[in-house]
Amino acid sequence: MLTQQEKELIAQIWEKMIPVAPEIGSESLLRMMTTFPGTKTYFSHLDISPGSPQMLSHGKKIILAIAECSKDISSMMDTLAPLQTLHAYKLKIDPCNFKLLSHCLIVTLAAHMGDAFDPIVHAAMDKFLSAFAAVLAEKYR
Ligand code: HEM
Repeated sequence: MLTQQEKELIAQIWEKMIPVAPEIGSESLLRMMTTFPGTKTYFSHLDISPGSPQMLSHGKKIILAIAECSKDISSMMDTLAPLQTLHAYKLKIDPCNFKLLSHCLIVTLAAHMGDAFDPIVHAAMDKFLSAFAAVLAEKYR
């Protein structure tokens, strides 16, 4: 469980990422697709070349969804309900992939935040994204 202090920290960080959402999101996607190539199969209908308009726009959507959820972490189950259904039933994403993208989001944040990404932030972000990924994976069982 995240402490109140951690929740506030997480909300602040994601708010700061909103203006750079396309860059952060597309970099996370690119890292995921490069490091875990199997994930590319889900995006065969998109232009997944680095920096393509579709990568930037999809990356932006991901970051905005996370930022929205981070404003009220206790309500995550409700906020994420439409994305749970979309990913599980419509897109049929294997739930193990949520952990892979979460990992790539952490690496991307660390690369962009520099020294501000200290162990406290790292641990809080890991807790948050693990909870996020677990909620997205919930509809599968
Ligand atoms: C679509 C968020 C993980 C594959 C979306 C959309 C959002 C989103 C906001 C757009 C929904 C809409 O247009 O209504 C997230 C978040 C994730 C996550 C926050 C985890 C942190 C994943 C993973 C994969 C994936 C791990 C596959 C490896 C897709 C695909 C689409 C999609 C294929 C449809 C893209 C399109 O056709 O434009 N996701 N997603 N997502 N997501 Fe995810």
